[in-house]
Amino acid sequence: MTIPSLALGSGTKTVQYTAPQDPLQPSTLLFYLNGRKALLTQPPPDLTLLQYIRSIGLTGSKLGCGEGGCGACTVLVSSYDLATQAIRHIPVNACLSPLASVQGKHVITIEALGTSANPHPVQERIAQMHGSQCGFCTPGIVMSMYALLRTNPRPTEEEIEEAFDGNLCRCTGYRPILDAAKTFSVEKTGVCCKSGKGADNGGKGCCMDEGSRAQDPHMEEAKYQRGGGGCCKDTSASGGAPELIPSKVQKIDSSFQYQPYDPSRELIFPPALILLAKEGGHGCTWYHPHSLLDAMRLRKLHPTARIIAGNTEVGVEMRAKRSREEISIYLSADAIPGLGKIDVDESQGLVSFGGNLTLDRFSHHLFTTVVNWPAYEREHYMVLHEALKYFAGRQIRSVATLAGNLATASPISDLSPVWMALDAHVELGWLDITIHKKWVPIRDFFLGYRKTLLNPAQELILSFRIRQKSRKGEYVRTYKVSRRKDDDIALVNAAVSLKMDEKTGTISSSYVAYGGMAPVPLKAEAMSDVCVGRTVDEVSKELAIFLDDFSGINLGTPGGMPSYRLVLAVSLYHRLLAQCLSSHLSYFPEHSSVRIPHDLTQGLEARVSRGAQSYDSSGAEKEDAHGEAVAHLAAMKQTCGEAEYLDDQTPPIE
Ligand SMILES: Cc1cc2nc3c(=O)[nH]c(=O)nc-3n(C[C@H](O)[C@H](O)[C@H](O)COP(=O)(O)OP(=O)(O)OC[C@H]3O[C@@H](n4cnc5c(N)ncnc54)[C@H](O)[C@@H]3O)c2cc1C
Ligand code: FES
Ligand code: FES
Repeated sequence: MTIPSLALGSGTKTVQYTAPQDPLQPSTLLFYLNGRKALLTQPPPDLTLLQYIRSIGLTGSKLGCGEGGCGACTVLVSSYDLATQAIRHIPVNACLSPLASVQGKHVITIEALGTSANPHPVQERIAQMHGSQCGFCTPGIVMSMYALLRTNPRPTEEEIEEAFDGNLCRCTGYRPILDAAKTFSVEKTGVCCKSGKGADNGGKGCCMDEGSRAQDPHMEEAKYQRGGGGCCKDTSASGGAPELIPSKVQKIDSSFQYQPYDPSRELIFPPALILLAKEGGHGCTWYHPHSLLDAMRLRKLHPTARIIAGNTEVGVEMRAKRSREEISIYLSADAIPGLGKIDVDESQGLVSFGGNLTLDRFSHHLFTTVVNWPAYEREHYMVLHEALKYFAGRQIRSVATLAGNLATASPISDLSPVWMALDAHVELGWLDITIHKKWVPIRDFFLGYRKTLLNPAQELILSFRIRQKSRKGEYVRTYKVSRRKDDDIALVNAAVSLKMDEKTGTISSSYVAYGGMAPVPLKAEAMSDVCVGRTVDEVSKELAIFLDDFSGINLGTPGGMPSYRLVLAVSLYHRLLAQCLSSHLSYFPEHSSVRIPHDLTQGLEARVSRGAQSYDSSGAEKEDAHGEAVAHLAAMKQTCGEAEYLDDQTPPIE
């Protein structure tokens, strides 16, 4: 295999793996693993991060499902973001992360946190507070909590629960895990502890306010980067460790005194990697373009190469098919800022989102941007945010991208119906002599099962575009039905957009899109049309069942269960319509005397969970453990990744 002559820009990693007899220099991969430099020569391009770390004896990270669903393999990946000059920490599923994707990054595994003799506070508290039983999920649980603390050392209880949405535990029932994790929690008052003023009350804003945190949810707080700025929670003038508000969570065993958590004692991000990020650095094991032009050139030169972004689809597919890609072109917004850029065209009222923006960054942007907008302008942003709320787990959302989701063309994508309801457009780009770009309505994008207008041999997805703000009388809603609320794919999902005339209360346009009802995300024509031209009052009175759109659904429909899906589809429509009407009637009560029942308009929100364990200790003998909450002997080894399972003794070779 020879390296093609290709005039690519500086920084682009163009070195391919070469056969041993190839006279060209072999490629190298440079990253840091648990604080130590790792330089690998010609690692196989299809090796996952998990296979690699386990093969070198770091067996604390477990192989559970192998497809991003259980979180047992969670590790922390830190990188330096050139644009913001800040360090990002993301929890990732090592089972899906290509080893090559950690070029220039710092990987932290469970082994780096602490040992059973000297555990990290997360490891200690989860062990001592009975958060592990068989212990197989435990390293992943510890790493998810650790990842949260690295970006947010003062999380709320809600933030802690969210941090575990990509982890499954079969034994504990989660309550003891959450109890232990919530010992790190604080209550956020929104009032600056120094000035006594919240940001909306004339204060400058406090480190505890959401809005004053970095725009990226994974950015390390400036305070915790060495030499960073101060925090009003500091107890010392020199910016020492913040005093944590003691937990309100009851410990079962009150004799257990846990060590305090001091973020300044965490492993630092290797300064050498900051230099590497700034200067370009070593060749990578696969194509890693650092400019859009280079990405397009590579696309043209290698029409059969697979584009890889978050690898959350491709990784699962490769594993299922036991296949590998000969040539991969890795697209990341870190290397090609244009693919993660958010542009607002004020004159047209449009906003575009870079194609390979990760879902977590996208969601965070949506949520933080609308804070000062009037409620009626937020519909477009909030419906996208809603679609991402129950989209996979955090480890997946940290790396998965918008383009990857659309290109996959899954009939149950959570985003596709929303894009369709919003009449979003996708920008495709390709290269012949010059660069060409075109905008395609996503409503026309899907041609058949996993077939789209994208020509994968030539084109790249560059960005997505929507009208930024909704107007009065416009409503867009989405809902997903799955077997469980968090971290599950949809059975059926839907999005509805409605436009109502402010004066007459007449519905002037409507679009209803479903996922899970056909091989492609589908516009429900009859449902879309039925309301148009009618008044809010009429429609409110006739929330009826419309089944025509799905007469074609049968046992052969992907996923089966046609009658169940039909029922879900109809009820979803009613629910979303009711939400839109109810919102409208709150602005224009004169449009109908019908009052939509509250139950129909409320979403199912997961509340912060509470649990307690009680047992009779009256008959306990002093000399034995009856009636006492004693952590089991293996707990600390499990939280520190030292417990050995059969799987760990002979690392699997696939
Ligand atoms: C555990 C788990 C849970 C999941 N849960 C959900 C869920 O709840 N809802 C849901 O909708 N999906 C879910 N998914 C699916 C998946 O996460 C998404 O589809 C994701 O957005 C894919 O993005 P990616 O960047 O990882 O794509 P990749 O796997 O990297 O790529 C997917 C496809 O997109 C192509 N591609 C990527 N970028 C470009 C580009 N710029 N131009 C052209 N082609 C491109 C690739 O070539 C490939 O064919 C889940 C997946 C897993 C593993
Ligand atoms: S092993 Fe289950 S998510 Fe990686
Ligand atoms: S799976 Fe969580 S302790 Fe067994």
